[in-house]
Amino acid sequence: MEKGFVEEGNTYLIGNYARYPVSFVKGEGVYLYDEAGKKYIDMLAGIAVNTLGYNHPKLTKAICEQAQKIIHVSNLFYIQPQIEVAKILVENSSGDKVFFCNSGAEANEAAIKLARRYFYDKGENRYEIITFEGGFHGRTLATVKATAQPKYQEGFEPLPEGFKYAKINDIESIKSQITEKTAAIMIEVIQGEGGVKPVKKDFLQELFSIAKEKEILFLVDEVQTGIGRTGKFFAYQHFGIEPDIITSAKGLGGGVPVGAVIAKEEIAKSFIPGTHGSTFGGNYLATVSAKVVLEEILKEGFLEEVLEKGEYLKEKLKSLGLKPRGKGLMIGCPLPEEIKASDIANKSLEKGLVIGTAGENTLRFVPPLIIKKVEIDEAINILASVLD
Ligand SMILES: Cc1ncc(COP(=O)(O)O)c(C=O)c1O
Repeated sequence: MEKGFVEEGNTYLIGNYARYPVSFVKGEGVYLYDEAGKKYIDMLAGIAVNTLGYNHPKLTKAICEQAQKIIHVSNLFYIQPQIEVAKILVENSSGDKVFFCNSGAEANEAAIKLARRYFYDKGENRYEIITFEGGFHGRTLATVKATAQPKYQEGFEPLPEGFKYAKINDIESIKSQITEKTAAIMIEVIQGEGGVKPVKKDFLQELFSIAKEKEILFLVDEVQTGIGRTGKFFAYQHFGIEPDIITSAKGLGGGVPVGAVIAKEEIAKSFIPGTHGSTFGGNYLATVSAKVVLEEILKEGFLEEVLEKGEYLKEKLKSLGLKPRGKGLMIGCPLPEEIKASDIANKSLEKGLVIGTAGENTLRFVPPLIIKKVEIDEAINILASVLD
């Protein structure tokens, strides 16, 4: 990449990202191309966003056709693809009603507000949300507070009140945090940013039954794990639980920004006109894209293939001496201290492989769900040469 570009970027952009000195200008399937024409295989997918890869014929067509009609109207009017997407989300989850926004943080922010408002409407003084150490829920003030990791909070105090933290996979820890003020438990069933760490099944099931018994709302953050990423429509469906509120974003629009909150009817009722809203949330462009993504991942056999390809990728990673964890195409490999995940990511990029990092020294693989086994082989070959 031209040096001038990097310098100009550093001159004009706020420096809140540790950017690689690469600029992609084109994509096709699971491949990306930089401005010099160098080809990369993408195992990051915009961080679990580009569900259908790049330039997917149906998604591209739908976006182009929609752009020639209407991109945006206000949510003061009915938007047909928004209703269609809501229907698909409801039919494939434990929720009944959908609110649309633009990102994961916004979806979680809305879910937190909804949980509080629900108890307010019931006349109960319950507002506390319990979240888990190592989790990640976003960058707004409330979602930073919900993110029980000091590194995301430092310097941004005072943060909103009403959040408590428990240890993951530790029932006694969560029990000690529950009070008569507890409104909701909020959890990622696989902690993504925290290092691709799946929560234990028996813990999650016990947690769910405690929540039910105490009438605490069960809120699952599926921003990273949802929309087929783990081989189920939503990842909680691996665990035999039925959340009251589910949040979604990232993969939902296949690259077009869209987020959603899916809630049970009784809870959703608390968002009456004036309580919450979003100018862009679920507009034509966003929901036309989401509709294509959902229709593709719901095609017969698609999710089963995600599971199968995930197992395949795990086996290949094991053959390199790595210790993969995760489900479907959401896989992390913690590395021994002497090998830095960021060094591996940098070296891989030089060799034409895009991978991510997460948590403490973990490599992250969240490729487009349309990836083929031969493409997984190709990525593994590059990674093998880097690890050598
Ligand atoms: C589980 C989870 N929740 C929320 C977010 C925040 O999403 P966004 O960056 O779209 O605001 C993320 C982003 O990484 C996430 O992984």
